[in-house]
Amino acid sequence: MILDWKEVAKKIYEELKKDILKLEKKPKLWVILVWNNPSSIRYINQKQKYAKEVWIDFELFSFDENVLEKDLLEKINILNNDESISWYIVQLPLPRHIDEKTIINSISPKKDVDWFHTINQWKIVIWDESWLTPCTPSGILEIFKYYNIDLIWKNIVVVWRSNIVWKPIANMLINKQSTVTICNSKTKNIEFFTKNADIVILALWKPNFLTLDKIGDNTIVIDVGFTVIDWKIYWDACFWEILQNWNPITPVPWWVWVLTVAMLLKNTYKAFFYNSQIEI
Ligand code: GUN
Repeated sequence: MILDWKEVAKKIYEELKKDILKLEKKPKLWVILVWNNPSSIRYINQKQKYAKEVWIDFELFSFDENVLEKDLLEKINILNNDESISWYIVQLPLPRHIDEKTIINSISPKKDVDWFHTINQWKIVIWDESWLTPCTPSGILEIFKYYNIDLIWKNIVVVWRSNIVWKPIANMLINKQSTVTICNSKTKNIEFFTKNADIVILALWKPNFLTLDKIGDNTIVIDVGFTVIDWKIYWDACFWEILQNWNPITPVPWWVWVLTVAMLLKNTYKAFFYNSQIEI
């Protein structure tokens, strides 16, 4: 069975458009983009395209890849203090000479519609999901909701390598009363965990890492990691052999970004209501 990112995103956009059309004023999203990475540019094109489709205004502030950290911080400071700008994002990844954590934490937590700021991430740790939640983890949870996959009682293994996604998804699953095991590339005997999991959420960026023999017969696989070698894309999970065994799995070639973008626009809509009330 295929767990289709695109089908879920389509439903989110339909609902979002209906809600936004009822508003008297259009919400708006502001974006800082450093032109250093083709995937960031692709992401931003998608954010812009779908924002237009659901009636969200979009404004881009562009910087070239040699931008200095201090110049970005200066721009962030201006946006933080500009009352006409309600929320914005800085597209990641940034060039290596810029410290991502410094940038993320210099965004006002009140204007952080990605929900990346340490203060906002911390809210999730203390079970507070009453404002916003970060986009990729929320998108993954939408998959479970859409396909009626109950999370209580489930053993969920998160195999991850980056900070901004795996810690929040693990905490959000804990908040849903799942039993969560967090593994990484250095976990000993990782197949012991994946084989006994009801759900594996995978973003290790290791080509063909998750073979059928490393999972149980009913294990659900959410595959987020991919690697490009010689223009060919390799996924972390061996999609076809897992699908042929009838395990539910997210599809190639579509990636989680389809839902990340949808959830960002949903956050923008939610923030439109919350902004005046957020107290941090
Ligand atoms: N790069 C990859 N995913 C994301 C995201 O959700 N937000 C931002 N700002 N950058 C990203």
